[in-house]
Amino acid sequence: MAWAMGLLLLLLLPAVGASRPGTVVRLNKEVLSYVAEAGKAPLQQALQVTVPNFLDRSGEALQPTRIQILNVHMPHLHLKFIAGFGIHLLAAANFTFKIFRVPEPLRLMLPVKLLVDAPVDQGSIGTPVVSISDCFSFFDEAIVLDHNRTASKLLVPLQKHIQAVLQNKLCLRISNVVQDLNVHLGTLIGLSPVGPESQVRYSMINAPTITKDYISLDFNAVLFLLGRPIVLPEVNTSFVLPHPVGASAAMVTVGLSQDLFDSAILLLQKAGVLNMDVTGELESNDNMLNTSMLGQLIPEVAHQFPEPRPLVLKVRLGATPTVTLRTGNATLQLRPFVEVLAPASNSAFQSLFSLNVVVNLSLQLFVAEVRLRGTTSVLGNVQITVASSNVGLIDLEKVQTLVDTVFERPLLDHLNALLGMGIALPHVVSLHYISPEIFVYEGYIVVSSELLYQR
Ligand SMILES: *[C@@H]1O[C@H](CO)[C@@H](O)[C@H](O)[C@H]1NC(C)=O
Ligand SMILES: *[C@@H]1O[C@H](CO)[C@@H](O)[C@H](O)[C@H]1NC(C)=O
Ligand SMILES: *[C@@H]1O[C@H](CO)[C@@H](O)[C@H](O)[C@H]1NC(C)=O
Ligand SMILES: *[C@@H]1O[C@H](CO)[C@@H](O)[C@H](O)[C@H]1NC(C)=O
Ligand SMILES: *[C@@H]1O[C@H](CO)[C@@H](O)[C@H](O)[C@H]1NC(C)=O
Ligand SMILES: *[C@@H]1O[C@H](CO)[C@@H](O)[C@H](O)[C@H]1NC(C)=O
Repeated sequence: MAWAMGLLLLLLLPAVGASRPGTVVRLNKEVLSYVAEAGKAPLQQALQVTVPNFLDRSGEALQPTRIQILNVHMPHLHLKFIAGFGIHLLAAANFTFKIFRVPEPLRLMLPVKLLVDAPVDQGSIGTPVVSISDCFSFFDEAIVLDHNRTASKLLVPLQKHIQAVLQNKLCLRISNVVQDLNVHLGTLIGLSPVGPESQVRYSMINAPTITKDYISLDFNAVLFLLGRPIVLPEVNTSFVLPHPVGASAAMVTVGLSQDLFDSAILLLQKAGVLNMDVTGELESNDNMLNTSMLGQLIPEVAHQFPEPRPLVLKVRLGATPTVTLRTGNATLQLRPFVEVLAPASNSAFQSLFSLNVVVNLSLQLFVAEVRLRGTTSVLGNVQITVASSNVGLIDLEKVQTLVDTVFERPLLDHLNALLGMGIALPHVVSLHYISPEIFVYEGYIVVSSELLYQR
């Protein structure tokens, strides 16, 4: 099943030669304390193996005795990174057994120590894969819990029997838990929507870097438009995230390269969703887009349109917007081409004039529901130059005010709706980013966050 899924994913992965923007996910050692805490209960559950009957050879007849694990109590579960290797697990647990001995049952406690070495590698389909290279269980003397009982000579063979069973089964169960974890980690390469008809998928590009403090995973993002990967003009494939960076004690540090932003914006532009039309309405108090208003600024308009008509602003982004990341500041520059149209007599629209516009926007980034989102506000003035005119000379100073009032708000509303949808951060199912903080650096941004696993 998992094999078939893997094959399917391989087939779906497009064979593109184009380079892809870099993203780094660094899981810091703080995440291990969380995993150890959150993992205790499921691990205790997983270790409740079935123990086959014990054959009591002390009597005349072979007497099968049923054994049941009543409880696994694991007060200590410790995880740490091993540089260049993976994760080391150390656990101490008390297993409580009920021995259904005749005439009366017996309760037994067995202290167990578990040592597991788990390398972390890059899987064939671009997900991290955890395996188990070593797994050992060590047993202490069993303790009889019912004090009024003498343990009898049963205890030694009984403990031997139980230990032999646990020796095999515990590591098998831990291996199952790790397999489940890998299936879960596989959801990392799932497609996430970016906008209408567009998606992003992250996949690991090389083996993880593991130090005693963190495990760092390099991802590439592939952006799809209508199911096809978009080809980026030029991408800096070597995105290196410095260490330390962002908030020092965060569980996860995600580094997103400038290229990822450029690609996401390019995707929006290619999808055409950055374009918009602003339509005027007559007899509307909050809409100035009509020919009588424009006629006060441009006499030729008043001359051509004695009767008031609504106007349309066609905003088209020919040039791809540019994102600039400077320490503490993210900005977005848009160079839209704006055409001002009025209804002609034959119900078609005629172009009155067109403008080349440059607008600088400050980009405020935030994370919500594992998506990096943004809102914008205009920085400085919207800069305009006339591209063409069918209504004679245009007084830019007068038109500037018009642009500021009729263009800015719809543009911001439009952009903020798009950027508010945002782009998914690398994530697996049921894992949430909690109290994320964003840091903007020269050429990249960092999201420092806590993680919460919640189905
Ligand atoms: C197991 O139980 C004994 C006796 O109650 C206790 O001293 C010991 O700390 C326990 N160990 C673990 C790992 O729970
Ligand atoms: C042992 O103690 C339990 C309660 O602690 C009691 O129910 C049981 O009868 C006792 N058995 C013997 C043989 O004394
Ligand atoms: C690529 O990015 C790295 C850091 O991430 C930077 O040092 C290098 O100068 C960049 N190269 C180009 C060609 O932009
Ligand atoms: C044209 O726009 C101006 C400014 O908003 C407004 O006062 C006027 O009522 C509008 N004219 C018509 C016919 O809608
Ligand atoms: C960020 O941009 C704002 C607006 O342009 C400016 O006021 C501020 O000084 C900038 N901060 C830094 C750290 O460059
Ligand atoms: C936009 O920002 C660029 C780079 O900071 C600056 O050179 C340009 O003058 C700005 N343009 C406007 C219209 O504010």
